[in-house]
Amino acid sequence: MDKFSVDQIGKIQAWVKKILWGESSGHDYFHVFRVVKLADRIAREHPVDPDMVTAIAWLHDVDDPKISGHGSSKVFEFLQTIGVGLWTNAWLRSEIDHISYSSKKIPKSLEGRIVQDADRIDAIGAVGIARCFAFGGSHDRLIYNPADMVEVRRDQIGATGDSQSGIKHFYDKLLLVKDQMNTEQGRKIAESRHDFLQTYLNEFFLEWNGEK
Ligand code: ADP
Ligand code: NI
Repeated sequence: MDKFSVDQIGKIQAWVKKILWGESSGHDYFHVFRVVKLADRIAREHPVDPDMVTAIAWLHDVDDPKISGHGSSKVFEFLQTIGVGLWTNAWLRSEIDHISYSSKKIPKSLEGRIVQDADRIDAIGAVGIARCFAFGGSHDRLIYNPADMVEVRRDQIGATGDSQSGIKHFYDKLLLVKDQMNTEQGRKIAESRHDFLQTYLNEFFLEWNGEK
């Protein structure tokens, strides 16, 4: 496996910034920036190659079909231009392919699993709530529709699918994240953010019903 140099990590960051700046499906540059920080924090507690964690974190969303379409890999071509060998290139892209929430897969390496935890944690807590409603706004969704809750009761939590309102998305995805962590550190961070989601929902429904 190749090791990444400081110069290569810098080039990866600059390239990702250029591609994801202003991206509007919830995978903008600052999402990736936060995932890098969080993954680095979790990685410090594990026997992993920290530069590999950083490289996976920077690159984890670029080849998402929502951003790059299906087919060719932008990451593959870019890694070749900065001198990353074919074997490491293939390995890294396989780890990235296993990270996405919707793929329902788990990366093979601890490096990849740490990034998956960080990516999922960024969907919950105060930042996750902001992302959820930003996504809803850009897709013409309501913040909440009481009819959604009937569906939640019928299908039970975790029905998934394309959430109709922002609040419905809490029940489809956000409240499930804390039980999907690969690492103990990830679980601790996710639990504290999960508590904040619950606090937020309590407040939301009190206000919605005019009780507060
Ligand atoms: P991933 O990149 O892990 O596949 P997604 O693309 O599903 O994740 O989600 C990106 C961001 O948009 C996350 O913060 C997620 O919670 C939010 N999001 C995705 N789908 C919806 C939806 N239907 N309603 C509200 N927010 C959503
Ligand atoms: Ni992501």
